[in-house]
Amino acid sequence: MAALRMTISCVILLQVLSCLLSSFAPTNVQGLKVGFYDKACPKAELIVKKFVFEAMKKDPTLGAPLLRLFFHDCFVRGCEGSVLLELKNKKDEKNAMPNLSLRGFEIIDNAKAALEKECPGIVSCSDVLAIVARDAMVALNGPSWEVETGRRDGLVTNMYEALSNLPSPLSNISSLITRFHSKGLDKKDLVVLSGKGHCPQIRNRLYNFTGKGDSDPNLDTKYAAKLRNKCKPTDNTMALEMDPGSFKTFDVSYFKRVSQRRGLFQSDAALLDNQETKSYLLKQMNSDGSTFFKDFGVSMVKMGRIGVLTGKVGQVRKKCRMVN
Ligand code: HEM
Repeated sequence: MAALRMTISCVILLQVLSCLLSSFAPTNVQGLKVGFYDKACPKAELIVKKFVFEAMKKDPTLGAPLLRLFFHDCFVRGCEGSVLLELKNKKDEKNAMPNLSLRGFEIIDNAKAALEKECPGIVSCSDVLAIVARDAMVALNGPSWEVETGRRDGLVTNMYEALSNLPSPLSNISSLITRFHSKGLDKKDLVVLSGKGHCPQIRNRLYNFTGKGDSDPNLDTKYAAKLRNKCKPTDNTMALEMDPGSFKTFDVSYFKRVSQRRGLFQSDAALLDNQETKSYLLKQMNSDGSTFFKDFGVSMVKMGRIGVLTGKVGQVRKKCRMVN
């Protein structure tokens, strides 16, 4: 009898323990988890995906800028949507030099408006950015990963913070490592996240911005001339990489290009100046890209945890360009 009672209490104890474990396991230390909106807004991710896929069907060049939006959000104040806020005096992040070339804000606005219709006040703008970044890569036949959600939106945007937090293309390896380290990212994350390449995406902005052989007026003319020197429109190997459908080819070839010292920026070439980043780069350049795809997802999830606001901190903005 006593043995039976022991067994029953053991079973109950085990059940309680496994229940506790399963409810805690998916949530990371910052309070994010995969499927945060499963109950409160089950269609949230589907809605976002629909907008990304529709927009990219019309304009596949949006893939790269949609990824970059998330990076530029996360590196300034954390992933809390400050890159989307607009101030009357224009001293917001959007107006900082490195952000003048950001694109894709209207996709975020459209997805958010649809989410507000479906389930008002539930899905944050910062989570929309995170989901959009993943879906943009999927739309390019690139890597996919499970996006953690549960972020809340910040209330502050400041131009100078963008200037001091975003890495410069003139960075050397030690400042890149330090910058990434200050955001909780390591050398592997640095080289992996750099692996999405730079030249293919910006060539469009250098040579054919509106389809009339022009360059993006937001690009500083002197800087654009410099970049045109590096990213030739006639380079056949590059032409292949321009094809957004060949994301996989382009990723591995980014590593190859950098190893041949043909990276676009000094910060690309700098990846050869550290043993760890160099050895990853050399290992990837002749691979089929599958490890890289997996690594990219892991590093994106890590990036998505930078400085997040969760629980009762911050707010869920109604419109992404302004605080409530
Ligand atoms: C490692 C440090 C990095 C530096 C110094 C850097 C710098 C730059 C610069 C100068 C541009 C060109 C901007 C322009 O066209 O005006 C650019 C483009 C881009 N960057 Fe980075 N970047 C870095 C890391 C990253 C990371 C971590 C991501 C995302 C995971 C990213 C995504 C992109 C994308 C997708 C573009 C092309 C955007 C477009 O075509 O509109 N970059 N980057």
